[in-house]
Amino acid sequence: MISEKLQKAREFEQEQLSKISPEERPSFHVTGSTGWINDPNGFSYYNGEYHLFYQYHPYSNEWGPMHWGHLSSKDMLAWKRLPVVMAPEESYDNFGCFSGSALELSDGRHLLMYTGVGYVGDTPMANGELPTHQTQCMAVGDGVNYEKYENNPVITGDDIPEGGSKVDFRDPKIWKEDDGYFYAVISNMTDDGNSRILLYRSPEPLMMLLRSLRSGVLDHSDAKLGKMWECPDFYEVDGKHVLVVSPMAMLPEGLKFHVGHSVIYLTGTYDKETHKFVREDVQPLDSGIDFYAPQSMQTPDGRRVMIAWMQAWPNSKFVPDGAKYFGQMTVPREINYRNGRLIQQPVREIENYRGELVQHHNVEISEETALDGIKGRVLDMTVKLKVTDDFSKFAIKLAADDTYSSYITYDPAKEVLNIDRSRSGYLYDILHTRDIQVKPVDGEVTLRILMDKFSVEIFINDGSQTATMVLFTPQEADQITFAAEGKAEISIDKYNLVF
Ligand code: FRU
Repeated sequence: MISEKLQKAREFEQEQLSKISPEERPSFHVTGSTGWINDPNGFSYYNGEYHLFYQYHPYSNEWGPMHWGHLSSKDMLAWKRLPVVMAPEESYDNFGCFSGSALELSDGRHLLMYTGVGYVGDTPMANGELPTHQTQCMAVGDGVNYEKYENNPVITGDDIPEGGSKVDFRDPKIWKEDDGYFYAVISNMTDDGNSRILLYRSPEPLMMLLRSLRSGVLDHSDAKLGKMWECPDFYEVDGKHVLVVSPMAMLPEGLKFHVGHSVIYLTGTYDKETHKFVREDVQPLDSGIDFYAPQSMQTPDGRRVMIAWMQAWPNSKFVPDGAKYFGQMTVPREINYRNGRLIQQPVREIENYRGELVQHHNVEISEETALDGIKGRVLDMTVKLKVTDDFSKFAIKLAADDTYSSYITYDPAKEVLNIDRSRSGYLYDILHTRDIQVKPVDGEVTLRILMDKFSVEIFINDGSQTATMVLFTPQEADQITFAAEGKAEISIDKYNLVF
């Protein structure tokens, strides 16, 4: 049964869809059907296709009562829009259907596990808002239509270990382990204002529906790594265990971990018998400007693939005038672990969309230079820069014309890569630049630059670091040039991407 609220949202998004032309959307990055989107949700493989849901407020370009929007794809790059699947309407989710995850049940149905945020009283709090609680809920469906489970919520405040908040208890990520059990990590604020990641398990998801849970604390922010940790993800890749969280209100350390709403990954060891995670290292997951709330899944061929909201809360209030929708996802990225770092690369399926290869090898760059065949806004370009004392600064200018430009520069003495989109069409004086410590590898810095109409994703040194930023530069600004103070040597391999 489709509820009235869901039906209204479906009709509304259908009506709006035709008002946004393909030219106004990215070529291969996911956007919402209309209105506002934030976190990717329920990223999973079901019935022969990838499914992606998203935090969705169809009725405006601002965050509002959360619905779940939906798409499916055969290759994670060409997506088919599907109707919105959940609206906030039940007593346990009337404030919003917050983030969550998905998996296929053994009976062939698709399970969504999400946070229901429901009002719990009608006396306003000091800030004028009505009090809410967050609980974990389920919906089950066939890849198009989903029904919320009749015994929702399945995990409530009563299932939180002592010292945790019922107000901030969200973003379940569910998966199946080799031991046959189903597990979920869930974020929870503690009474002292920090947060922790709780681990729940159950012999089968239906048991989880029946609240048969055992919980433990996987890790905690400990007054050091920000306050509330949002959107946990936990997996093993290349023999290493990784916990990914999106901390609010985190302080930077040197050039790492920009202020608040950044994403970190904690690597360590995990004992599958005792469920103890021992953290060994913490690193930023992306060092750019627009990246938050990533979620990963395992593909049928065994790859760990992650997708994130290509935006973050601090800049999300600055919606360009006249925008018909707001928010994009990153390209889905394959994740590996090598030499103590997570390695990110665009999913290999992107190679199917490559046009002709343009190469310029061992080119000496000093004053600003345009190179034959190197321009455009939808492309996959790798630039290898030899790091020597012969230059003091190297710059790539892109999405450029006489009015607009964005820069990627490298300072070999400081070993700092800078991204700067101050002249990318934003009419707001917000954060537009960031410095990233980047050490050369074998005397080179390698930048794989993946551009779409409204974004740049840089995979640095084989993807061991990344920097993501959104652009609002008009598409006519498609020039790319290279310049150096001194003499720099570069090699370029560039493909247009054709969708
Ligand atoms: C992260 C987040 C989640 C929450 C959702 C609400 O961006 O705040 O913690 O579930 O967004 O839209």
